[in-house]
Amino acid sequence: MAFAAVNEDFSLLSRIATSDGHGEVSPYFDGWKAYDRDPFHPTQNPEGVIQMGLAENQLSFDIVEEWIRNNPSASICTAEGLSEFKETAIFQDYHGLPEFRNAVAKFMEKVRGGRAKFDPDRIVMSGGATGAHEMVAFCLADPGDAFLVPSPYYPGFDRDLRWRTGVQLVPVVGESSNNFKVTRAAMEAAYEKAQKENIRVKGVLITNPSNPLGTLLDRQTLRSIVTFVNEKNIHLVCDEIYAATVFAQPDFISISEILEEGIECNRDLIHIVYSLSKDLGFPGFRVGIVYSYNDAVVNCGRKMSSFGLVSTQTQRLVAAMLSDEDFVDKFLAESARRLGQRYVTFTRGLAPVGISCLRSNAGLFCWMDLRKLLKEATVEAEMGLWRTIIHEVKLNVSPGSSFHCTEPGWFRVCFANMDDETMKVALQRIKTFMFQSGEVAVPAKKSRRFQANLRLSFSSIRGRYVDDVMSPHNLASPHSPLVRATT
Ligand SMILES: Cc1ncc(COP(=O)(O)O)c(C=O)c1O
Repeated sequence: MAFAAVNEDFSLLSRIATSDGHGEVSPYFDGWKAYDRDPFHPTQNPEGVIQMGLAENQLSFDIVEEWIRNNPSASICTAEGLSEFKETAIFQDYHGLPEFRNAVAKFMEKVRGGRAKFDPDRIVMSGGATGAHEMVAFCLADPGDAFLVPSPYYPGFDRDLRWRTGVQLVPVVGESSNNFKVTRAAMEAAYEKAQKENIRVKGVLITNPSNPLGTLLDRQTLRSIVTFVNEKNIHLVCDEIYAATVFAQPDFISISEILEEGIECNRDLIHIVYSLSKDLGFPGFRVGIVYSYNDAVVNCGRKMSSFGLVSTQTQRLVAAMLSDEDFVDKFLAESARRLGQRYVTFTRGLAPVGISCLRSNAGLFCWMDLRKLLKEATVEAEMGLWRTIIHEVKLNVSPGSSFHCTEPGWFRVCFANMDDETMKVALQRIKTFMFQSGEVAVPAKKSRRFQANLRLSFSSIRGRYVDDVMSPHNLASPHSPLVRATT
């Protein structure tokens, strides 16, 4: 049953419920809706929209499925696991199963190449990284306070950190001229801007590896951020949920390594957000954690975690899976290899039509540079191109402006949520688009075949789509399958 977002009596509801702090009125989420209305299927809907707006890691499920088959007692709903059913069903301690926290701590160490140690007693559960971010925001900031966030950044932060907490986010502007690096000068500028507006800054939130850039923060940058927060006596929240998606050199450096190497810093200011949504590809399990070096945050967070515990059934399964070192080693190596291969397939596929991506070595996406396709460097022009890509090229990619990127023309394109064949179709559509738009000359040999394959119309329908997509009638209902908790 669909619930119309219009004609509701908002006076009956709270300010939070009726505000648009959920951030879903954004092209980022509208793109998903366009996909859901017309999803690509190789045989049933070959002209449909291909979903490239979803940062899912679906390339290594065969390895997980093999493990599940070989370990039936890890699942309590099997004949082999049934004897544990009752104990699992009644367990509801908000500390979590000790074996779960131990296994997650060990997994985090392994992902960081053993260069950092994690104390299981500092692990606090939450419903995915989404819940973890909100929990941290509740613990560290009051309504009206702000976090500085290097941009471009994951659009979900606008919901996760702000909506229910009343906290604000102030972008630390990143620029393509230095590959969107986080600089001390940009952090100072954002800090001063907030102060001028009488906004109290409570912390910095970094994402390493970055969503949407797929790049890593280097040692020097991490040290400079730690020094910055220490000098200002504000917090540092490090989202490291893409830690195991690194597929090429250089290695990932966790904030925990920086602390262990020795740096002048009050550890009470440092907190890590982690989840299994990206590294293992399990966003549906909602396994998120806060790892804080601050005892008070651990204690308070643990009480708050009552609102978003990881189910005991999931804890039990994850504990068994992550305690199997052979499985973990195999999964991590193979997952990184497959992600690397996909990255190469995608970026090499774009090269012949003159499209480049920011050089990256992690994540489930590329940061694609289409600046030269814009008639003018404006957000309006970016949105026009985005609408063409969704509705005519039939690819759901996400425009840079939805990541608070200040330079129009960048797009995030996810490449790990589809099979090889779908990736080929997506690449072919981009190539066709480039040839047809006149950006690239059709190679003489291919000319006839391309002409036959050119099915994109590029008719002048932009205005219609603006209205269609942005219309409140298209807002997803609370029960709609369109609504995903995260991306
Ligand atoms: C940087 C970042 N943080 C947090 C999340 C939310 O993750 P989870 O599914 O664990 O809630 C995402 C999801 O895309 C993300 O990209």
